[in-house]
Amino acid sequence: MKYTSSTTAVPDAPAVPRHVAIIMDGNGRWATKRFLPRVAGHVKGVDAVRSVVEACVRRGVEYLTLFAFSSENWRRPEEEVSLLMRLFVTALDREVSKLHANNIRLKVVGDLSRFDDKLRSMIASAERRTAGNTRMTVTVCANYGGRWDIMQAVGKMVAAHPGSSDFSEEQLAPHLAMAYAPEPDLFIRTGGEQRISNFLLWQLAYTELFFTDTYWPDFAIESLDAAIASYQHRERRFGRTGAQLAEKTT
Ligand code: IPE
Ligand code: IPE
Ligand code: MG
Repeated sequence: MKYTSSTTAVPDAPAVPRHVAIIMDGNGRWATKRFLPRVAGHVKGVDAVRSVVEACVRRGVEYLTLFAFSSENWRRPEEEVSLLMRLFVTALDREVSKLHANNIRLKVVGDLSRFDDKLRSMIASAERRTAGNTRMTVTVCANYGGRWDIMQAVGKMVAAHPGSSDFSEEQLAPHLAMAYAPEPDLFIRTGGEQRISNFLLWQLAYTELFFTDTYWPDFAIESLDAAIASYQHRERRFGRTGAQLAEKTT
């Protein structure tokens, strides 16, 4: 696939975003509000993932990217981290067959070297099993950080061009963890915070941003539709003027 960046070419703005990227935030607060342990929010969050995957398939979204665990989330209490890992294992175990049956490809991106062997081999086999599926690609970002991604890509780019010291965006992009996907059209963050938290830093350069106070476990099909409706009312100018777009000048 030829690399086209939203910073250099104007992609068509389809009615439905091709690529939706979500920071699933607010699980802990959802649980605390109900006097439940934070883990109850994470468990409920998995249900929300299932319904959003289904809704995206039905809406015709081609790529859905979910931030599940950031490179900074290791700073959480050990108990919460190990529970999140177990939840990840169980969800993979339970959901991969369903994804496969629905022709959905699963990718997991991030620095997987910190995960244990069992989890790593489950990830590898889930990716292998679903690799040929074409209806939608679900990417789970696990131990992912936008800065980590850029740095690992820089390392690979330099290794691929020995002796070179002058590089272009086009040379870096194929080494980014999500090089197989177009840049996100729509970014959603639930849970009320309005920040990127080291998610896809490079790829979000021209993405439309949507923030909602809804906690992730409460995020439902209607919430996704509200985000898509908001996206459909935006004018994506990629640095140009509104008048240029009206003339369809690129
Ligand atoms: C997001 O919910 C899930 C992960 C980061 C794994 P949080 O656990 O951050 O929930 P809040 O922000 O504390 O409510
Ligand atoms: C971002 O949420 C990471 C994920 C949803 C996986 P956090 O809850 O960790 O983000 P901060 O700490 O509020 O920025
Ligand atoms: Mg949070």
